[in-house]
Amino acid sequence: MNRFFALLLMTTISNFALAQGYIAHRGASHLAPENTVAAAKLAWEQNADAVELDIYLTKDNRIMVMHDKNTKRTTGKSMVISESCSDSLRMLDAGSFKDAKYAGERIPFLEEMIAATPEGKQLVIELKCGTEVLPALKDVVAKSGKQSQCLFIAFDWNTIVDTKKQLPHNACYWLSSKKEGLSEKMKAAKAAGLDGLDLGYKAIDEQVMQQAKELGLDILAWTVDDPAEAKRLTSLGVKGITTNRPGWLKENAK
Ligand code: G3P
Ligand code: CA
Repeated sequence: MNRFFALLLMTTISNFALAQGYIAHRGASHLAPENTVAAAKLAWEQNADAVELDIYLTKDNRIMVMHDKNTKRTTGKSMVISESCSDSLRMLDAGSFKDAKYAGERIPFLEEMIAATPEGKQLVIELKCGTEVLPALKDVVAKSGKQSQCLFIAFDWNTIVDTKKQLPHNACYWLSSKKEGLSEKMKAAKAAGLDGLDLGYKAIDEQVMQQAKELGLDILAWTVDDPAEAKRLTSLGVKGITTNRPGWLKENAK
């Protein structure tokens, strides 16, 4: 391959960035059990632009989708994911807590959530655990054939910076809800090669958006179920709005 085509290819795949739109928080979690395939499918039916989910690494090195590190709140049985094997975790019912019609819904493997993601849609994957998940994560996204549809977020600074190093073509955003020190953190995010910040919506104002624009960073927002707030964020130029109610908010924030 000559140098021109090599450069062209690099430019084309240099960044799988987020498309503008609404991100379903843990799937369509207002109606369906959070972080399940059912919640993701409902979000896609509601025409969400992306689905957000949370991941942990199990004792047997599988990546499973759940918000809490312990399974008690959503399954009724107490197991620590990092200390448990995936076959035991798969026995749990992660749907009944929301509604009897979801009885039998399983804690998903990340592979299932990626497979359920339609063409043209995106998956915002939050690393709730640390960098120990990165070897398995790289493997899962590479084998999925949908790597270009995956984005990554994390509250832990070192985790998101290392994720960007390991998956340099995928967009990575640092999560925070704090306003203090935000300006310095934005400069650090730029220096670390991150693509932007995913902020608690109350931290987002004109000043933040102006600095992000100057640095060439994207700003995403969480978690917004109020149409007036969604309109404010859209008018400020926020790229993605994370919501528990993607269909309803899309309709009511027009
Ligand atoms: O999308 C970001 C948001 O999910 C972070 O908070 O607690 O819902 O994971 P949490
Ligand atoms: Ca999350």
